[in-house]
Amino acid sequence: MEGKSRFICQECGHQSYRWLGRCPGCGSWNTMVEEVVHSPLGTVRSPAAPVQIYSLAEVAGHEARAFPTGVGELDRVLGGGVVPASLVLLGGDPGIGKSTLLLQAAGRVAGAGRRVLYASGEESLAQIKKRASRLGVEGPELYLAFETEIGRLERSILDCSPFMVIIDSIQTVYDAELGSAPGSVAQVRECTARLMRLAKTKEVNIFVVGHVTKEGALAGPRLLEHIVDTVLYLEGERHQSFRLLRAYKNRFGSTNEIGVFEMTGRGLVEVNNPSALFLREGTSAALPGSVVVPVLEGTRPLLVEIQALVAQTAFGTPRRMTAGVDYNRTALIAAVLERRAGCSFASYDTYVNAVGGVRVVEPAADLGIALALVSSLRDRPVDPELVIAGEVGLTGEVRPVAAAGKRVREAAQLGFARCLLPAANLSQAFEPGIELVGVQTLQEAIEKVF
Ligand code: TYD
Ligand code: MG
Repeated sequence: MEGKSRFICQECGHQSYRWLGRCPGCGSWNTMVEEVVHSPLGTVRSPAAPVQIYSLAEVAGHEARAFPTGVGELDRVLGGGVVPASLVLLGGDPGIGKSTLLLQAAGRVAGAGRRVLYASGEESLAQIKKRASRLGVEGPELYLAFETEIGRLERSILDCSPFMVIIDSIQTVYDAELGSAPGSVAQVRECTARLMRLAKTKEVNIFVVGHVTKEGALAGPRLLEHIVDTVLYLEGERHQSFRLLRAYKNRFGSTNEIGVFEMTGRGLVEVNNPSALFLREGTSAALPGSVVVPVLEGTRPLLVEIQALVAQTAFGTPRRMTAGVDYNRTALIAAVLERRAGCSFASYDTYVNAVGGVRVVEPAADLGIALALVSSLRDRPVDPELVIAGEVGLTGEVRPVAAAGKRVREAAQLGFARCLLPAANLSQAFEPGIELVGVQTLQEAIEKVF
């Protein structure tokens, strides 16, 4: 059996003993790659040494206490800070700012007197040093290593006994005994599992950087999500300066929180008031097709500008396009507008966009999308002092939204004068300084706004 080969999907890790053009697991093509199995399952092994088992009562219940890194937006997403004996995977497109974020966090933790080891397989020590000085990161407690062999990495972690370790990136780390190339599924999985064991047994906190493939999956990928404690993604548009940090899995906190950063010449800067950032370039207010909606990202309200453009179809079937808002949801809203509010888009192309590259997935943005479409269709601007929240039902009714009070408060804080919201939410949302206008139907909302 020694040396029998098998094929592993590079996307989802599905295994097969023969080559397949299409992975039965995830359906992607040409992702099955051959790997040699060193110790196939089913071989008879000698019995292992006895395992120590404990009764629940015996186990010292030391609570996993989070240590704040000092980068507030990162701590928020982590659920308070880094937890000893945990493994965190930070994914994102190349060049998005993963190394920058972790070097900044490393600097803060080291500055607080805890030892940090930053092991890179991507950049030379001189390059890291240069970036560190650009970021204003220094400190005798921050150690750097250029190392990619997992055994030697483990050795250096044991020798240095840091509080926090950063491995940048998991795709460059390899186990010399495995034989396959660094970055292959077998390597990434095995090395991550070894780091996980090390984190748990030595009580270190390990951050692992993982690049994302062009299809958007973490290379080496969903398998890792099962192994690690926390999966974070750093997202953003390359040509825009802000970055969103989201948790996709978190054994120590909520996955609802997002962190917002802005990439500047001096690294990532925390954005404590994201609404102001997303509306900052909001010079399009008071132009037809622009509407501001308060959405919730986790527990945090965010004001986002929705823009719609309705243009006469020049040729053939009308085009429907969305960016940052859900395509099907927008189609549904347009259909409701046609049937319940007498708007016709049959001979018009419609384009709907959430400004700033944010993704708006909440139904609470429905009414805003609807009014942006109507505004562009009629070429009449919406009051720039107005924010609009509400879910639209198929019968044209405006349904209540969750956490109306938070949304209204955020709008009031940013100086908006009026808020159009579902009548059912009126009683929960009183806020001084902002006038509330309740509506029950889409038709009524259109009459009140135009
Ligand atoms: P980086 O952290 O290297 O990305 P990743 O590790 O995710 O691949 O970030 C690289 C980009 O960030 C690069 O295009 C330059 C930009 N950048 C700044 O704009 N300001 C800075 O202070 C730093 C360090 C990087
Ligand atoms: Mg990097």
